[in-house]
Amino acid sequence: MKENAKNETFVHDPENVIELDHLKKYFTVNKGKLKGGKQYVKAVDDVTLNIKAGEIVGLVGESGSGKTTLARVILNLTKPTDSHVVFDGVNLSHATKKQMKDFRTEVAVVFQDPASNLNPRETVESSIMRPLIIHGMKKAEAKERARKSLELVKMDERYLYSYPHQLSGGQLQRIAIARALVLDPKVMILDEPTSALDISVQAQVLNLLLELQEKMHLTYLVITHDLNVIRYISDKIAVMYLGRLVEYGPTDDVIENPKHPYTRGLMSASPILNPHDRDKEKYIMGGEPGSLIHLPKGCHFNPRCPYAGERCMQETPENVYLSDSHQVTCFMYDEKGVGEKVSEEKEVSAE
Ligand SMILES: Nc1ncnc2c1ncn2[C@@H]1O[C@H](COP(=O)(O)OP(=O)(O)OP(=O)(O)O)[C@@H](O)[C@H]1O
Ligand code: SF4
Ligand SMILES: [Mg+2]
Repeated sequence: MKENAKNETFVHDPENVIELDHLKKYFTVNKGKLKGGKQYVKAVDDVTLNIKAGEIVGLVGESGSGKTTLARVILNLTKPTDSHVVFDGVNLSHATKKQMKDFRTEVAVVFQDPASNLNPRETVESSIMRPLIIHGMKKAEAKERARKSLELVKMDERYLYSYPHQLSGGQLQRIAIARALVLDPKVMILDEPTSALDISVQAQVLNLLLELQEKMHLTYLVITHDLNVIRYISDKIAVMYLGRLVEYGPTDDVIENPKHPYTRGLMSASPILNPHDRDKEKYIMGGEPGSLIHLPKGCHFNPRCPYAGERCMQETPENVYLSDSHQVTCFMYDEKGVGEKVSEEKEVSAE
């Protein structure tokens, strides 16, 4: 099937459940009232990413790199500025009412803050039942589904009658997961699902997510700043930097042999991730994270990149496919290369 995502060459692959083709989401932050006119936050800029059914994809990147915005666009909570989300072959921008109704049952979300996932004035049972009632299910059946959903997350049914303030962070997050599962989704988007939890509880919740994924053949997009979580849970890693996807590939490849200079910086900054690599040459990432409003011309990473050449200052790198499953957005991997090197100051240093 051919879908008009961004350009005519886009072809839907039935193995993919989510397809993004040059997706953009810009926010206008200064509507022309101040000197300088309109300014945009390019929170998601030209992102091309496919997620196969049954995969667990971890999305990493510094704070403000656009991870939550990308999730919100996929969830159809905000419209893209350019291009479309293709879900299970359906272009969401051209979906029928029935297709949108199906989409809302097939994609579920769990946010970071367990309390924000639930209404403080509702019992656990009402919270879990609500999506079912909204979709027209009879109360008795919805109650039974709520009980089963709680069972899935290994909580006793007595918690159905509790209120959020009576529960711990770990229990609340389990209930948020139960609520997300109640409509029997295909895809779950988990935005920092364990970062508000104690380490011991984090491990329990991650193991529960892994069990559920296998049992229910789910596809996950897991957003986290914790590379250890990514390594533990995900099949693939997607790395964002200032609104752009800079690398995407199988977890082991990206961790053991990162290609993009930013990914190398991230991996080097996490010694626990590669304890056996402690003696290897370290890549020290210099500079401060940039601003999405005042973006450098050319490659967004050029002010921090020790390999930057003249071309990186002028042109925007496109995706280069190193294999079917590993893509990187950097001139070092295309035929023309980076051009003449611009700075000798930024060096890769050995620790
Ligand atoms: N509704 C909005 N209006 C204007 N700017 C927005 C809006 N939502 C997000 N942004 C901006 O988009 C950029 C990306 O934000 P986003 O929340 O997606 O980042 P993130 O990678 O999830 O960060 P974090 O790791 O801190 O959660 C930020 O600069 C943010 O201020
Ligand atoms: S395109 Fe150039 S500046 Fe950007 S990451 Fe690659 S080498 Fe560095
Ligand atoms: Mg976020």
